[in-house]
Amino acid sequence: MEIIRTVEQLRSAVSQAREAARTIGLVPTMGALHDGHLSLVERARKENDVVVVSIFVNPTQFNNPDDLRTYPRTEQADCALLEKAGVDYVFAPSVDEIYPEPDTRVFDLGPVAEVMEGAMRPGHFNGVAQIVSKLFAWASPTRAYFGHKDIQQIAVIRRMAALEGFAGEIVPCPIKREDDGLAMSSRNTRLTPAQRAIAPAIYRALRAAVGIAQEGKSVQETIDATVASVNAVDGLETEYFQIVHPDTMQPIAEWAEAPQGAIGCITVYCGEVRLIDNITFPAQS
Ligand code: PAF
Repeated sequence: MEIIRTVEQLRSAVSQAREAARTIGLVPTMGALHDGHLSLVERARKENDVVVVSIFVNPTQFNNPDDLRTYPRTEQADCALLEKAGVDYVFAPSVDEIYPEPDTRVFDLGPVAEVMEGAMRPGHFNGVAQIVSKLFAWASPTRAYFGHKDIQQIAVIRRMAALEGFAGEIVPCPIKREDDGLAMSSRNTRLTPAQRAIAPAIYRALRAAVGIAQEGKSVQETIDATVASVNAVDGLETEYFQIVHPDTMQPIAEWAEAPQGAIGCITVYCGEVRLIDNITFPAQS
């Protein structure tokens, strides 16, 4: 495994692979890797000749300076995991390498970027589009892998890729969970033991939401019951829970608006730590 620090090195590695007609799988990450990331790497390894993993805590997607400052950075441990996972290249550049000058591009991401995370974290998705568009341009991946936990991010990246004409396939991968149901996230490392103990209530509430819907309750009733059950746990505070169409990410008012299966997206504060998760409601028969 080679650790690459510059865009030039990345371009050259990728162009050699391309010349040899080898497929390239890209797994963009911000490091602090866990089994969720490793499941993306494993899939990329199976489906491509060359696997590139980027590790870059992208400042332009953080709208909260404290969040950027405290974001876990564990490059050495990450590289050890990636080496074991059979990765060919780790691209771990500095901020100056990626942004030698400020990136002033504003992407027309449309309605998918305006709701939920887009509404709560102004500028976040534009920052994601900035970094992912750079990575796509430099790595020209045959396939790029993203976790379903950030389902809205996947919709935004699809939109960015369409706008920019990137041909690579965007491959969504299932959410990986701890044994108690908590969605794996780099942010989980910031939970205190007491917070870690209550955080699985989020997924329990999501599963209960599916049951509530199956009992015939309306979208709004399902939302209200879910928010109430999360907020009933001392130490958890729901920021939003929305039930949305899987493609447009727009909130639905009736189940019939998403017959192929709506998505319930939740963001919960566990102390200072902001946790996100989602669940798919079964398709309507
Ligand atoms: O999901 C993430 O870790 C980041 O948003 C990504 C896609 C690596 C872009 O910085």
